[in-house]
Amino acid sequence: MKVVSVKERPELLEEITLYFINHWANEESKMVYVDCIKNALYSQNKMSNWYVLLDDNRIIGSAGMISNDFVSRMDLYPYLCALYIEKDYRGHNYGKLLIDRIKKDTISLGFDFLYLITDHIGYYEHFDFEKIGTGYHPWGETSSIYRCNLKKDRRHIISEIESLIDHSIPFYSNLANISCILKDAFPNTLWAGFYLSNKENELVLGPYQGPLACTKIPYNRGVCGISAYKKETLIVPNVHEFTNHIACSSLSNSEIVVPIIKDNIVVGVIDLDSIEFDNFSKEDALVLEEVASLISRIL
Ligand code: SME
Repeated sequence: MKVVSVKERPELLEEITLYFINHWANEESKMVYVDCIKNALYSQNKMSNWYVLLDDNRIIGSAGMISNDFVSRMDLYPYLCALYIEKDYRGHNYGKLLIDRIKKDTISLGFDFLYLITDHIGYYEHFDFEKIGTGYHPWGETSSIYRCNLKKDRRHIISEIESLIDHSIPFYSNLANISCILKDAFPNTLWAGFYLSNKENELVLGPYQGPLACTKIPYNRGVCGISAYKKETLIVPNVHEFTNHIACSSLSNSEIVVPIIKDNIVVGVIDLDSIEFDNFSKEDALVLEEVASLISRIL
């Protein structure tokens, strides 16, 4: 299963448009989709995009990201819309793949919240959406407005990483891609990546995204070394107040380090630095600890 968007697969414009028309439009409203999807493709506005879920080359589901879903709350954006999964593919949580992709793209665009309007009760709640009020449509009807706090919710990266891990490539290739996901998923992150343990109880620079970094950190030095030594996650809201901090970039103000433990031995750490103070929460630590546990299985 693969989620692709019209912006990344322009050759699918016609097929994607037809899919949305067949599932969401009637004769009078079909031009809404034709015009909107075509303009999403050619526009520089990244907030407008249309996605499909592919099983090999067959489209089996769809969703859109738009700046407003014909509703009175035009102060809110972006909106998830037009989520659909083919009937014979239901019951496998495939909707989550589309929702997670749109959450990820929303975070990449720098937004903390994703909205949607719906009349379904009890579905989107499973994906951390909560009802925040009622919206009014130009044609006189109302719908519930739902909001997902993306700053709070980074759990979507777990399934994303799980589906990305490729056991046929070296582990450091997987780590390279995972560092990219981490940097994207945590707003204001300057540096995201890995240090890996050597036999001398040092942490050696691994794959990462961000500016140049120090290459070797002894256990018990720096936030990374102390996390490795203590085998525990460290959240540092202000690195300038942390005596042992090793400053790789003067732009870094807060940091989180999570040890990767395999058979009770620290094999490395996940390290994230942020330009903002207090950028990382206990919820972030839980997510990163799950990522560390996933990684320990490929090392
Ligand atoms: N600040 C880290 C050093 C690594 S860089 O942040 C990439 C530390 O104190 O261990």
